[in-house]
Amino acid sequence: MTFRIAPSILSANFAKLGEEVANVIASGADWIHFDVMDNHYVPNLTIGPLVCEAIRPCTTAPIDVHLMVKPVDRIVPDFAKAGANIITFHPEASEHIDRTLGLIRDSGCQAGLVFNPATPLNWMDHVMDKLDIVLVMSVNPGFGGQSFIPGALDKLREARAKIDAYTARTGRQILLEIDGGVKVDNIAEIARAGADTFVAGSAVFGAGKDSDPQRYNSVLANLRSALAG
Ligand code: DX5
Ligand code: ZN
Repeated sequence: MTFRIAPSILSANFAKLGEEVANVIASGADWIHFDVMDNHYVPNLTIGPLVCEAIRPCTTAPIDVHLMVKPVDRIVPDFAKAGANIITFHPEASEHIDRTLGLIRDSGCQAGLVFNPATPLNWMDHVMDKLDIVLVMSVNPGFGGQSFIPGALDKLREARAKIDAYTARTGRQILLEIDGGVKVDNIAEIARAGADTFVAGSAVFGAGKDSDPQRYNSVLANLRSALAG
């Protein structure tokens, strides 16, 4: 199994965002997780396509845009133009889920659905051919630094079973990502429940000393060795 680590820049130093992005990738991260909040669908306000465009030249790593916005569709082309590689959204925030997935894929990005702790996974059942990734939330969306909700482990197992059955039938892969409260001491258990892609915000960006250009090396190495063990 190939594992991907996607640090959420929500917990980065926004005054030095370009450096933070380059530094965390140079330290061994695979993707940049980009949390978009609109103070409407979720009670917080963060970053949009302009910031995505600004960090695009700082890395060749995939930018994984997690949309916590409502409505979804009108912002999708802006993120595609700004250099996003993956765009995920919450099914409750879209009027027409199949259409939104098609819009994301037609714009040249990979598409995914995000499941809040109380959102049932069967929202994915009839759109699996348009899914590249499924994101299970292990916190309620809106803030970094919250604690992992243990019920997300059963949900991951359920999502893994659906994805594996689909892959066995079609030969198509779908990634399974987890977001919220991922740390060195729980990542192995989360991987055993079926996740292959791990968002980690505060665990990564809270590590090391600000002055150290390699400040993220050791936390990323620790996350990887926990996954390997
Ligand atoms: C929450 C965001 C997460 C968050 C993760 O709404 O989607 O990506 O930043 O942060 P940590 O890893 O600190 O829980
Ligand atoms: Zn996120």
